[in-house]
Amino acid sequence: MLRVGMLTSGGDCQALNAAMRGVAKGLSTNVEDLEIYGFLNGYKGLIYGNYKLLSSSDFSGILTKGGTIIGSSRQPFKEMRTPDENGLDKVEAMKQNYYKLNLDCLVILGGNGTQKSANMLREEGLNVIHLPKTIDNDIYGTDVTFGFQSAINIATDAIDCIHTTAASHNRVFIVEVMGHKVGWLTLYAGLAGGADIILLPEIPYDIKKVIEAIEKRTKAGKGFTILAVAEGAISKDDAKLSKKEYKKKLEKSPYPSVSYELAKKLGDKLGNEVRVTVPGHTQRGGSPTPYDRVLCTRLGAEGAKAILEKDFGYMIAMVNGEIRRVPLENVAGKLKMVDPNAQIVKEAKLTGISFGD
Ligand code: F6P
Repeated sequence: MLRVGMLTSGGDCQALNAAMRGVAKGLSTNVEDLEIYGFLNGYKGLIYGNYKLLSSSDFSGILTKGGTIIGSSRQPFKEMRTPDENGLDKVEAMKQNYYKLNLDCLVILGGNGTQKSANMLREEGLNVIHLPKTIDNDIYGTDVTFGFQSAINIATDAIDCIHTTAASHNRVFIVEVMGHKVGWLTLYAGLAGGADIILLPEIPYDIKKVIEAIEKRTKAGKGFTILAVAEGAISKDDAKLSKKEYKKKLEKSPYPSVSYELAKKLGDKLGNEVRVTVPGHTQRGGSPTPYDRVLCTRLGAEGAKAILEKDFGYMIAMVNGEIRRVPLENVAGKLKMVDPNAQIVKEAKLTGISFGD
């Protein structure tokens, strides 16, 4: 009998179900005696023993379905070692539930924080396999995370839609793109959507340069400008602040996000209102793209193979285009950021895109 637990933790994305299906099909095709337990709503399910036994029909018809059939929640890594409001030791509780169900392994799908907790459980002696999920694409050690390509499509659609209205009204528009502390999604959606200016957390911007770029377009007879701005974009001045000072500044800010502050500043200088569009959580919704479906099926299959071989403690990743097992201890806690000198950034600049630097 093979007993496997699964959980999805952190922000959801379009391809979580596709990835779980990949693992489940990879196992059920090769093992007769199989039980898969889905822990409900992320690590919370594992901590409090909330789970359901999943049957093969649960994994049918979900390749194209966004969200997660077992729910998700945020359970910050830094709070894992802090007892809950009733004094429960969360790590011990997770271990007990794992042993109570006599699990052979846990398949944990999630982003950076989730991965850190998965690695902690590995250090605690549990068998874990991690599958790298996030629309942010910021997991170190994998070329790409699942969810990223699907989110690019949605963010690109948003920029495409803004293009026509911006052109009709001769307006400057900001489209604020998700991505947490990194700029991958903004960079790719910005390029795909033909943004004129792309602002990323990794390349602090100078507002004067941004204005110069807009004015250059106006002089060239282009009445509108599209800015793709990462939710974590930061000005050169703000980048000089300590993390603590910047956090305080954001807390006190009257603006709902960095884009609104930038829009106000640009509007004042340009003498015209600048509009902001925030596609927000739509970027995590809907059906996964074919790319993500294929990626998740491959990651899931390799995850199943690792389980069948009893080879645990890995993130199943895409490394130089190949699906590989990457030791969790080598990657947990590291962030993959956009390199300001990357070829793709240089190519974008060559085509006239301003990064405000
Ligand atoms: O990590 C995925 C992500 O969508 C980030 O891009 C974003 O900053 C964050 O999650 C939003 O989190 P929440 O869903 O908790 O608002």
